[in-house]
Amino acid sequence: MKNVAVVTGGTRGIGKAVSIALQQQGYTVAAVYASNDAAAEQFSNETGIHVYKWDVSDFAACSNGLAQVTADLGPVAVVVNNAGITRDTMFHKMTPEQWHAVINTNLNSLFNMCRPVIEGMRESGFGRIINISSINGQKGQLGQTNYSAAKAGDIGFTKALALENASKGITVNAVCPGYVETDMVKAMSPDVVSAKILPNIPAGRLAQPEEIARCVAFLASADAGYITGSTLSVNGGQYLA
Ligand code: CAA
Repeated sequence: MKNVAVVTGGTRGIGKAVSIALQQQGYTVAAVYASNDAAAEQFSNETGIHVYKWDVSDFAACSNGLAQVTADLGPVAVVVNNAGITRDTMFHKMTPEQWHAVINTNLNSLFNMCRPVIEGMRESGFGRIINISSINGQKGQLGQTNYSAAKAGDIGFTKALALENASKGITVNAVCPGYVETDMVKAMSPDVVSAKILPNIPAGRLAQPEEIARCVAFLASADAGYITGSTLSVNGGQYLA
């Protein structure tokens, strides 16, 4: 069986759209979430998608959770590392807690989620790993030294893991969304969005989560088997990497 996909942060925002897109593509999806039980329950009821609660910044939690998914649904063929947080603040005001929270959730989670499944993927000769990085990992962003560092790290991780596993039928790619209409962007000050962000997006609008999800679904598909180590920018022209 090669059809189980795990999506972190998979019940809200970009991850919700990715979970639904992969389900429509025929995958049995396990959507991992961290805290919002009500949203996860509603999502599961609406879609029939399995939901699992664990903290992606905790290696033991990921190992145990992935073992549970394998026991329930079968071996994991696709991992979408989408879970992410922001703790935006200028660096001269940033606390160690704000730094470590973002690095742990947005970067260390890739080790935590991939290490437990990579050997199984290598043995089966198939795997798809898709890491949701960000435009701000490519270009940097004022107020996001922590987030930009983590998201740039996600791209380096993607390239190195792709090289190690290209001969094993495993592809590893990064998607770099720009500003997407999700809770994360809605949490920003509307003044900052309208004055500083929107004027810099040539497309003149935020992205919809489904526009990112369609890219992830393509990278997970058999058609994308020769694409590995790539960085796909989906940002309305805001940054041309
Ligand atoms: N570009 C250029 N200048 C900016 C800016 C921007 N995007 N945002 C703020 N500034 C300027 C402000 O105008 C201000 O300049 P002056 O001192 O000359 O007036 C200076 O930077 C400091 O800004 P604030 O007064 O807003 O400082 P603050 O301490 O109150 O807030 C902040 C700092 C929280 C970082 C706030 O500026 C902010 O939220 N900025 C946007 C950060 C951002 O883009 N986050 C992305 C979140 S979405 C996401 O991360 C998803 C993804 O992958 C894209």
